[in-house]
Amino acid sequence: MRTKLDHLVNSALATGSAVPAFTCYDFTTALAVVSAAEEARLGVILLVAPKTASTANGLRLITALRGLADSASVPVSVQLDHASDLNVILEAVAAGADAVLADGSSKPLKDNIHLVREVRAALDAAGHAGVVIEAELGGLAGDEDRAFGSSTPDAGASVPGLTDPEQVAGFVEQTGAQLLAVAVGNVHGKYTGEPNIRWDVLQDVAARTEVPLVLHGASGIPASELAKASGMQVGKVNFNTELRTGILAALESETAAYRADGENLQGLLARWNGSAASFAGATLELLSA
Ligand code: 13P
Repeated sequence: MRTKLDHLVNSALATGSAVPAFTCYDFTTALAVVSAAEEARLGVILLVAPKTASTANGLRLITALRGLADSASVPVSVQLDHASDLNVILEAVAAGADAVLADGSSKPLKDNIHLVREVRAALDAAGHAGVVIEAELGGLAGDEDRAFGSSTPDAGASVPGLTDPEQVAGFVEQTGAQLLAVAVGNVHGKYTGEPNIRWDVLQDVAARTEVPLVLHGASGIPASELAKASGMQVGKVNFNTELRTGILAALESETAAYRADGENLQGLLARWNGSAASFAGATLELLSA
């Protein structure tokens, strides 16, 4: 059943859990994620990258994901991730996305606030007042769609990209953001060296707002660390790279055998599905209380 993102995340936090969100570039991966969530009897979030949403076929994928969410036996939300282009946002929502990350995190604070307010106003004006908005404060290193290495700040280092706890209450109030993505040493893609998540900064941020926090760049953060997240108001945890790593490894090792087996694409797609479902299943279990 399709569910509002804020309800899904707040209900999970109320039970001491967080909800994983998985980037889906295709329908096979989305089917695997939703079937893993149904198996676990837990809610899940399907993320669509802005590069996907900015094409006609990407918009069709969003519509298909909405249908998948509607027919699921567990709560599922479809969210447009990291978007700053108003046209892409409006088209993605018209196609079926019911939540958006209005991402002005690379801009100066006042422009970031302006973007989120502008997105809210445009959605309301287009009759989409129910669409949930996540905003991001602080900048994350790394590429969202291609995994290259980025380093995480040293312990105790003062890093300009980190979320500034002093700005949190004003930012949430002025933007009306319903979820807040934070930069606390997390990076998109691969970590060069050990990830150093600044739980001290996260705790400080959590003390200054009631809205659920979102941890992006979760691939590569050890399970023992991720398990701490929901205890610090992190109700949504975003994964992309690790899902891709598993799918690509399965395809790399299995393609020749399925080719030899009469060009058996169905069999190969089942391996793709199996890889994505097992990663999603393990992650759902890890984040649930
Ligand atoms: P990773 O690719 O590092 O898992 O990050 C995913 C993400 O944050 C999507 O918004």
